[in-house]
Amino acid sequence: MRLFAEVGGRRPPRKGCSIRFFFEGQKPTPAADFHGKSGERLFLPGDDAHRLAVGLGPKDKFERDGLRKASAEAAQELAGRGVRHVTFETDAWPLPDAEEAAGIFAESVRLSQYRFSLRSEAPKDKPLESLAIVCRSAAERGRIGSLLHYIEAVADGVDLARDLSNLPGNMGSPAELARRARKLSGGAVRVQVLDRRACERLGMGAFLAVARGSHEPPAFLVFQYNPKSKTQNPKSPTAGRPIVLVGKGVTFDSGGISIKPSDKMEEMKHDKSGAAAVIGIFSAARTLQPRVPLVGLAPLTENLPGGAATRPGDVVRSLSGKTIEVKNTDAEGRLILADALFYAGRFRPEAVIDMATLTGACSIALGDVYAAILSNNDALAQSLQEAGETCGERLWRLPLHDGYDRLIKSSVADVQNIPEGRLAGTIIGGMFLKKFLADEHVPWAHLDIAATAWDTRGRDGRPPGATGIGVRLFYEFLRARGDLPKM
Ligand code: BES
Ligand code: MN
Ligand code: ZN
Repeated sequence: MRLFAEVGGRRPPRKGCSIRFFFEGQKPTPAADFHGKSGERLFLPGDDAHRLAVGLGPKDKFERDGLRKASAEAAQELAGRGVRHVTFETDAWPLPDAEEAAGIFAESVRLSQYRFSLRSEAPKDKPLESLAIVCRSAAERGRIGSLLHYIEAVADGVDLARDLSNLPGNMGSPAELARRARKLSGGAVRVQVLDRRACERLGMGAFLAVARGSHEPPAFLVFQYNPKSKTQNPKSPTAGRPIVLVGKGVTFDSGGISIKPSDKMEEMKHDKSGAAAVIGIFSAARTLQPRVPLVGLAPLTENLPGGAATRPGDVVRSLSGKTIEVKNTDAEGRLILADALFYAGRFRPEAVIDMATLTGACSIALGDVYAAILSNNDALAQSLQEAGETCGERLWRLPLHDGYDRLIKSSVADVQNIPEGRLAGTIIGGMFLKKFLADEHVPWAHLDIAATAWDTRGRDGRPPGATGIGVRLFYEFLRARGDLPKM
């Protein structure tokens, strides 16, 4: 779907539908049976150009999420009615900041039009083709035009992340993800794929312990992005040091020998959503050209109970040298991340951010509204949380505290991969990962996206399946830091 900005005025109304928002008590025409309530929509057909009135609810309770949902649901309705083009006039926006509203509107409409289908025939419900923001002046068109450019680049990254996460296990193997990642190589982005042999030579015993149970060969992706122009003061102690992103890439998680119940096991194709977000972020970096160096690491493997699979009770030696007693082969995400986090140390990172569908417990704690963030650094955690509030990919912080360590003490190895009881599942995941940081002083944040990475039904106007969480969050984080060039 194409997004563009134009200046209004003498132009005749474009074919398609213009969307106008109303607060409670406002009406498009005095006679209209419409009250501006949240969720309310009134379609006003015309010969060529239709109009859609969309309610936002009470003006004093307005927030960005309300506009996101109203925009996405309006777009879904119009696509369902066979409309191909939508417009939004900044002039008609009922609050002062029309430019921000236009951005949220455009982004929500754009993201709502994602489709994933493996049907043999093209689906009949076609998405919208284009969206125009009609501006009040040439200057506004300039500003909104660059905002739309940014939104499209990020949304393309989100769509790539959603595509990869949505791929069923048989179609989204480690080899297939590696093949798609390689296509992003070029310009400022370099992609390297470490195969099983290379990982063996490095000593990634924890990662490979998970890969053993499957015939699909594992792959460890390494992305490097080096900006042409940098933001930082060259004298700053972190100058030139990259932000390292790490994504869990379990292309299918059966649980391994500690096999999962079959109910909803098919959803475990989404267990590569962290890696998908990393790949989406590097894809968008090609267009957005952030002014900080970035490294992306994605350990990719299946978790299956084949004849060579790791057994409960096996002890493996991680890249860090620490030994791990694998008490439950279904706690595999932390095993592959242990090696990836330690590997991150090679790049002398300014900060490390990992994203992982790590624990079912995260859904119990926070549901699907907030993802969990665990961090050894208040400033990093706070910036990520702020970015989350702004873009709607919300993060709630859970504690890391040495008091939890006793729960993962092993009687034979340095650490065990699950606690004895069922206490604090998401925190334990974080406590385990923390032990594998190459340098505990480097700011690190772990995002547990187990409950937020997909939604089998879709809601609030968003399509069903993967959400692509992490991509928008990371770019909002960079934008707020001042690390994105003006477009
Ligand atoms: N990928 C799962 C976590 C998960 C489960 C994400 C359900 C989304 C929905 C992870 O590998 C896992 O199996 N975790 C275990 C950990 C436990 C064995 C300590 C879990 O959450 O049950
Ligand atoms: Mn698992
Ligand atoms: Zn998993």
